[in-house]
Amino acid sequence: MDVLQTIAQGIWVFLPALLPNSAAVLFGGGTPIDFGRSWRGKRVLGGGKTWNGLLGGVASGVLLGFIQLLVASPFDAENHFGFGPIPQAVGVIFVLALGSLLGDITGAFIKRRLGMARGEKAIGLDQYDFVAGALLLALLIFPAWFLKTYVQGEAIFALIALLILVPLIHRAVNVIGYRRGLKKEPW
Ligand code: CTP
Ligand code: MG
Repeated sequence: MDVLQTIAQGIWVFLPALLPNSAAVLFGGGTPIDFGRSWRGKRVLGGGKTWNGLLGGVASGVLLGFIQLLVASPFDAENHFGFGPIPQAVGVIFVLALGSLLGDITGAFIKRRLGMARGEKAIGLDQYDFVAGALLLALLIFPAWFLKTYVQGEAIFALIALLILVPLIHRAVNVIGYRRGLKKEPW
């Protein structure tokens, strides 16, 4: 595979990690994950992290991943455009979707410890918490897939492209969500 193809594949397989953040905004509301509890005078996670957002977000990412598998299977039944053979591909999709929102939750936990209010801007954390969560969980659970897709040889360019592109995509989607009144802040 040439570099461009490797990069395109690295972004394609990351889509199940990208969608949950936006989907969580649509599904969010209701019971907070921390059940309103505080720790050392500050909310554990805050009102911006809800069970509905988590479940709806993960389900959306997994659903998108399954659609991607369906799209890929007639062309690449072996590797599914980078997800790998079937049992593993399903696991990778689930891990990316879940990892991304676990990263988002970790980011909120850190923001609250720093005394930042819900929705307050945290440059770096807001754009990368979910990327880090998805990549780390994938590294932990599917290390061979992760190294092949984002580290070994030319695959490192896929990781670099991801780290450059994701904050731009994240920003663009959030501005759209903000203008449509779906999101309270444009970041
Ligand atoms: N959301 C949710 N549950 C999640 C993640 C997000 O309900 N697990 C919803 C919330 O309505 C949240 C919105 O999506 O306000 C935007 O998500 P995000 O920007 O991650 O949260 P913030 O409101 O900015 O809160 P924080 O400061 O904790 O990041
Ligand atoms: Mg936010």
